[in-house]
Amino acid sequence: MERFRIVGGRRLRGEVTISGAKNAALPCLAATLLTREPVTLSNLPRVRDILTMEKVLVTLGATCHHENGSTSVLAGDVSAFHAPYELVSTMRASILVLGPLLASRRRARVALPGGCAIGARPVDLHLAALARLGARLFLEHGDIVAEAPYGLHGADITFPRITVTGTENLLMAATLARGVTVLRNCAREPEVADLARMLVAMGARIQGIGSDTLEIHGVEGLAGVHHRVIPDRIEAGTYVIAAALAGDGVRVRACEPAHLTALLATLGEAGVAVEVGEGFLYVPPVTCLAATSVTTAEYPGFATDLQAQYLTLMTQAQGRCRIREAIFENRFQHVLELKRLGARIEVEGDCAIVEGPVTLDGTVVMASDLRASAALVLAGLVARGETILQRIYHLDRGYEAMEAKLNALGAEIHRFNPGPYR
Ligand code: UD1
Repeated sequence: MERFRIVGGRRLRGEVTISGAKNAALPCLAATLLTREPVTLSNLPRVRDILTMEKVLVTLGATCHHENGSTSVLAGDVSAFHAPYELVSTMRASILVLGPLLASRRRARVALPGGCAIGARPVDLHLAALARLGARLFLEHGDIVAEAPYGLHGADITFPRITVTGTENLLMAATLARGVTVLRNCAREPEVADLARMLVAMGARIQGIGSDTLEIHGVEGLAGVHHRVIPDRIEAGTYVIAAALAGDGVRVRACEPAHLTALLATLGEAGVAVEVGEGFLYVPPVTCLAATSVTTAEYPGFATDLQAQYLTLMTQAQGRCRIREAIFENRFQHVLELKRLGARIEVEGDCAIVEGPVTLDGTVVMASDLRASAALVLAGLVARGETILQRIYHLDRGYEAMEAKLNALGAEIHRFNPGPYR
């Protein structure tokens, strides 16, 4: 299994280009199942999760072609409807095919996602809402089986709790449902809005894009489209934090600053005066970093997907702060690894209390999930000596060429394979 060897103490300077948003690309790929015409997606990040979703689509009878940085999907064969456990277990977001399959093929069989490193993460809200659209759902041999032999129908649905992929699944399903669907208490993440814009370009009728209430007027069919996926705000935020931690002036380009308002406000309080430009952010060298508490929240709040990276930053800030995780109940695995590097952090319930600044000491650490891995890479940048990061396959799921991007800024990160017996 590949690892990173990170040589600490190198300063970052220059420019980094942000890739397309993984979490927008995944539902957009799933939405290709809603039409029999070709759909071309550009700005897809080259990360493992995207390859996994393409495999899911191929299993469902689609063909995927890559050309000039774009991916064209043709969901021609509509007889398949089973997303098997081998694929769903490697990527929970495979559940995103459930809504489109039900809408377009009137039946779906998707393995029930199992446990997850960052909490229980059930899909009950997806299933309850799909049932309201008229689907019959049951569990069989570990698979969610969903059927709507006469098609789905509109309904007025209020999500009891905000769910990103749940909103996306329902939005896709409702585009082809008979009548009007109103979805309330929806996730307002930019990735949901990106999917909605793609669906509209395919012929869907959706009102309220970007708000917490989406009204969908069902249509008979959807057409092919060419859609460019939005930039990855989490990747951009990760590089902004890296620059605040170890930068001598870093420009983060090809991003959407408006999607990072909460992070930028929190960093501003902490003493990081990020300059905002048209499609770019500039992080100047930071002279004094002040411990600043934060609570994660649904968009437009502080993203849970940036909590781990921000926590690493706070190990280098002056004073004590509380980082509260309000979205997932078990998202502090990186804390134990950061403590191995010498960080002073205590977890009390849903809060991590961080005291800084401390000099981190390089050692061997293990990645446990995608964003926790990024947090450990950032820690390695400022740790004394060398940090070895194991299980970087987590990182490869969602960050395109992270070591290449950081090395181009001046970091020293080596990818290596210690061989089969280690
Ligand atoms: C998406 C993102 C993920 C991000 C998360 C929160 C993708 C592919 N993944 O995940 O990177 O961390 O949003 O911003 O876009 N919940 C239930 N029942 C459900 C669904 C969710 O209880 O049926 C709970 C979850 O356990 C969690 C909370 O609701 O505590 C929010 O989860 P949700 O927004 O659904 O996260 P995902 O869509 O899985």
